[in-house]
Amino acid sequence: MSPAAPTFLVLFLEPIRRYLEDDDISEILINGPASVYIERGGKLHATDAAFASEPALRAAAANIAKSVGRTLDDAHPQLDARLPDGSRVHAVVPPLSRCGTVVAIRKFKRETLDADKLLEYGSISPDGLALLRTVVAMHKNVMVSGGTSSGKTSVLNVLSSFIAPDERVLVLEDASELQLQQEHVVSFETRKPDAHGKGGITIRDLIFSALRLRPDRLVIGEIRGGEALDLLQALNTGHAGSMSTIHANAPLECLFRLETCALLSGIDIPLAALRAQVASAVDVVVHTARLPDGSRKIVAVSEVMPLEGGNYRLRELMAWRTDRRADDGRLEGAFETKDEPTFAAQARQLGLLPGP
Ligand SMILES: Nc1ncnc2c1ncn2[C@@H]1O[C@H](COP(=O)(O)OP(=O)(O)OP(=O)(O)O)[C@@H](O)[C@H]1O
Ligand SMILES: [Mg+2]
Repeated sequence: MSPAAPTFLVLFLEPIRRYLEDDDISEILINGPASVYIERGGKLHATDAAFASEPALRAAAANIAKSVGRTLDDAHPQLDARLPDGSRVHAVVPPLSRCGTVVAIRKFKRETLDADKLLEYGSISPDGLALLRTVVAMHKNVMVSGGTSSGKTSVLNVLSSFIAPDERVLVLEDASELQLQQEHVVSFETRKPDAHGKGGITIRDLIFSALRLRPDRLVIGEIRGGEALDLLQALNTGHAGSMSTIHANAPLECLFRLETCALLSGIDIPLAALRAQVASAVDVVVHTARLPDGSRKIVAVSEVMPLEGGNYRLRELMAWRTDRRADDGRLEGAFETKDEPTFAAQARQLGLLPGP
């Protein structure tokens, strides 16, 4: 954050300045004035950094809020903001937080991951990457699932880079993170309600507009609520090739999570009907994980099959297998190619997959 951060902010953030300036550190987590953790190389480390007092920390957090035109005080005890340089900040003040002001800063990485980087970091195999290219080229609808900070958005960014340059892509996000390189990209961002709770624009509202703006593809940053139902309906009415991310701990859980989110829309829809919608809307689940050694990988690619007896069925196309833990702590293993996708023959006809 530091190069673009206003000087007064840097002043307030002096105790953590060295972490803000260190590009190897991806997150800074402050749990009250005397407890600061950092994430380096995918792993959390405690530090000896400390703020002078709780009021000093709270003032720093309030100033971050102020710098982006927001308020953090007793009446507005939570802040979710993006700083001008792209860093994301979430803060909560006492008494909601029990240990003093709590702040999480996700630093903006100037360098976004591309397909080559995923290979270089061992996050996917060349075959896995070829599979994902095929999935996107064939206009399959993709959900990227995974835990917090597992690399979902980064993978979505890579998937979106496989979209052909002549397609019209509509991007909807809560906070702009994706960086699509194509020519014909139209991006939208939601808006938080003002201090009186007015004027908020949600992903649901943006989907309403997007569907009327002739999209070839919808790319939605993250599904976390009722917008899931709008997305499912859009996908089932012919917006093939759309993609999004969702928080889930396993590929199958991703589908259940979509159901739960769709139910949050408040629209009454029988579970059986909803499940049928999910199964027909989502073609492929790409599951990401942060492994115990700190590495982030695409640990599974699964195809969503038709319901069987009202239950979801997944066909595993690719999966990471951990073999052993090396002396240096790194996990060794391999990406295994599993079943062929049901669309393999068609992909070969189109020249999108090499012959058998
Ligand atoms: N394959 C990868 N290898 C190494 N680092 C990665 C990889 N993917 C993502 N990262 C880094 O991990 C952090 C989190 O990535 P990202 O924002 O994509 O995760 P996320 O799952 O979308 O997080 P959130 O749950 O907050 O939405 C970023 O700093 C990103 O640069
Ligand atoms: Mg994300």
